Amino acid sequence: MTQICLKPNTRLAGSVNILVMSRTVTQLTSPGDVRDTWERPLHDLRISVIDRCNYRCPYCMPAEVYGESYKFLSRQHWLTPGEIKRVAGLFMKLGVAKVRITGGEPLLRKDIVDIVSSLSDLPGLDLALTSNGTLLSRRAKELKAAGLRRITISLDSLDEEVFNEMSGGKGDVSTVLEGVEAAHDAGLSPIKLNVVVQKGKNDHTVLDLIDRFRGSNVIVRFIEYMDVGTLNGWRLDEVVTSAELVEQISSRWQLKPAEPNYRGEVASRYLFEDGQGEIGFISSVSEPFCGDCHRARLSADGTIYTCLFAKNGISIREPLRAGASDADLVGLLQNLWRNRIDRYSEQRGKGKTIEKTEDSRIEMYRMGG
Ligand code: GTP
Ligand code: 5AD
Ligand code: SF4
Ligand code: SF4
Repeated sequence: MTQICLKPNTRLAGSVNILVMSRTVTQLTSPGDVRDTWERPLHDLRISVIDRCNYRCPYCMPAEVYGESYKFLSRQHWLTPGEIKRVAGLFMKLGVAKVRITGGEPLLRKDIVDIVSSLSDLPGLDLALTSNGTLLSRRAKELKAAGLRRITISLDSLDEEVFNEMSGGKGDVSTVLEGVEAAHDAGLSPIKLNVVVQKGKNDHTVLDLIDRFRGSNVIVRFIEYMDVGTLNGWRLDEVVTSAELVEQISSRWQLKPAEPNYRGEVASRYLFEDGQGEIGFISSVSEPFCGDCHRARLSADGTIYTCLFAKNGISIREPLRAGASDADLVGLLQNLWRNRIDRYSEQRGKGKTIEKTEDSRIEMYRMGG
């Protein structure tokens, strides 16, 4: 019996090789039970459908690096809605039950409604989308009608000046709030708000955000600023830990921790003691959650990454467009996951020296947030 054994995070040489190799794949038993080297299953797939964005958040695509001239993937390399659906379907055979559409800004893709509609055809799939909200007010209804159930919107502050700075001079609060309103009116639920917190930038505006959404159906989640990609000039002293935030928030409202909704949930949940809803904290710097990480990522050009901090991925677009069968492609994904070793955030947490080739890490706007 011959099996393909891909080293994780290695780019395959080309489609011919993949096809020749994949013919020799023996289907391993019960593909739905696939586990990586740390016994972690595969449950979530995050699909970045575009690497372009109309914002220049300094923690992601700082304007001072390339301004408007970031080098983006060319359109002919983007997976089509049909290809995205096929790849998601293959991942579902391996246990994926949730797909999150991301970017860049996914609503910049003109065929975003077709993408949602294709994916929502897959039976039993929990389909979510993350957006910066700028184009949402005109798209929310269509997205809901196409089968989207829930949405996460980024909003770092309600203070116009702070927000404008944190979107790289591009965003304004009222447009995003209109997007939140439109999502609500369209029946998307739950609506979550992602807030990246940076010391000295928006940490003084956290309570205002809570005040605004407490008691509504919007769940605000605070994310520790991470060292993703290579461009944001990350420094540990700019991170506001979740523990610091919980302390700050508890001085105003009584909080109590809540059980996760599912194993491996990224956000730690807290409820307001007075019954006015919940907030969440994503603590990947101070309390890494690699031990339960069951997420794979697919970029717009069909490259699969097994960690947010990966330096390389493998292309599924090449074998797909070269005519590989579903069995070949499932074998490829299965072997990729079985060999997965990633635990980046934990290693960083333990102060382990990160390899020198750090500067080749894939940017988050390409891999998906
Ligand atoms: P749901 O539970 O489906 O609502 O989604 P989620 O909790 O996984 O949240 P979401 O997908 O919106 O992720 C929120 C943020 O958490 C992302 O934008 C990232 O900043 C961070 N994040 C998500 N997944 C990972 C991960 O695998 N590793 C790290 N280090 N951070 C992550
Ligand atoms: N640290 C933490 N979260 C980040 N995001 C982007 N860059 C970073 C970073 N450096 C998250 C933002 C956005 C999502 C798409 O990715 O929260 O909501
Ligand atoms: Fe765009 Fe999101 Fe990156 Fe901000 S964090 S630049 S909104 S992709
Ligand atoms: Fe998963 Fe990598 Fe994030 Fe750890 S650092 S939780 S392995 S994506």
